[in-house]
This record gives sequence, C-alpha cells and structure tokens, in this order.
Amino acid sequence: MTVHIGAKPGEIAETVLMPGDPYRARWAAQTFLKDAVLVNEVRGMLGYTGTWNGHRVTIHGSGMGMPSLSIYANELIRDYGAKTLIRIGSAGALPEHVKVRDVILAQTCSTLGSPSRAIFRELNFAPCADFGLLSKAHAAAIAKGTPTHVGGIYSSDTFYDERPDLWKELTRHGCLGVEMEAAELYMVAARHGARALAILTVSDHIATGEALPSDQRERSFGAMVEIALEAAFA
Ligand code: ADE
Repeated sequence: MTVHIGAKPGEIAETVLMPGDPYRARWAAQTFLKDAVLVNEVRGMLGYTGTWNGHRVTIHGSGMGMPSLSIYANELIRDYGAKTLIRIGSAGALPEHVKVRDVILAQTCSTLGSPSRAIFRELNFAPCADFGLLSKAHAAAIAKGTPTHVGGIYSSDTFYDERPDLWKELTRHGCLGVEMEAAELYMVAARHGARALAILTVSDHIATGEALPSDQRERSFGAMVEIALEAAFA
C-alpha cells in the first residue's frame, strides 16, 4: 500500500489505463475487462484490475490536473511496477479541422509548467509519447475508422482559461487540443523508464463552443478504451 493507493503488492498490472474520472475507470473496467476486481478506493479514486484478451490490465483514475495525476503515476510506477501507462481522457479542440468526437493522439505536450518543473528549472523539457504505443494506437484507430489526429497538445493548469491569446498562438503553431494531464504523465514515465501515451476524445471545441452531449460521451469513450487496449497489447 502507498499513501494514495490501497492495492496490495501484485494487485496492479504492468499496463495501466488512466481516465481522469474514477467513475469512468469503474465503467471501463466493468465494460471491457474480465474478472475486474476493485483494488483501490482511497479518497474515492477507483482502480480495478482484470484481464483483456488474456492480458492483465489495471484501469485507475488519475483525477483532474497534473498534480493529481503526478501522485498516481509516481506511485503506480515506483511502488507497483507499472510499465505502460495510457491516459484515456477528453480534450478541447483548437483548430477548425479537429472536430468534436475526433480522437487526438498526443505526440508531445506544451505547458506553462508542470509538477516536474521543479526538476528542470530553466530547461524546457519536451515531453513526448512512446513511439511504439503511438504508432500502434494510430493503426488501431485507423482500423476502426475513427477520425484521428496525431500531433502536439497543450496540457493546461486551468479549465477556465482566461488566455484566448495563448490558444490563438498554440493554434497558429499547429497545436491540436487542450487537456490537463498528459505532459506530467509523459515526464514521470520518462523519468522512471516507463512507456506512456495520451489518447484523447474531443469533448468540446474551443473555437466554436460546440460540446459533445453527455449521452454521446460514453460511446466515444468506449472507442478510446479499445484503441488503448489494442495499442498496449498489439
Ligand atoms: N478537457 C476537455 N475539454 C477541456 C478544455 N476545454 N480545457 C481543458 N481541459 C479539457
């Protein structure tokens, strides 16, 4: 057991899918895993371990924002031996050609700072996805016919962002979307020799204000879970 995870040694799989929302972790485990067992519920952050096509998988919430994700990613990797971590979450789209419901595979993540900033200080470390996971996720998404974009995203510290000028510059520089966790996941994974990828479904559009109705979120989320599982074990 760690400070934030109540699982016993051996109860966390080497492959961990990380939605932000703990209830999404429960839904995904009950929908996609065989023999899913609850392994963590400390502070309501649910984690389940089961199997998919015979492979052991844990689906564990990350919470919202980089500080929360950082706690779970550190403990999953350092204390439980997780080796592959895939964030499955939502993002706001920036350019017009990225549409609500599309999937973004985050090749790299820009930030104003992350919890790892304390290590890098003045260095602008470039967090990047594991290429093997990225290419397998891309192949899985294309095979499914899911409209998919690969490129840079922005990992923000704020959902209620007051800097439209920043969105404009990010869009001008080819940034595909905004979310709040991936950069720190990539940095923690890099630090400890683990593989990481963020797969994001576009839930809203920053430029147009369009948002995915809640009844359609679950269906889009399901496709993302399948892409993540295929990427991990293909
Ligand atoms: N996640 C989903 N939509 C978002 C947005 N607009 N900003 C930050 N994170 C998000």
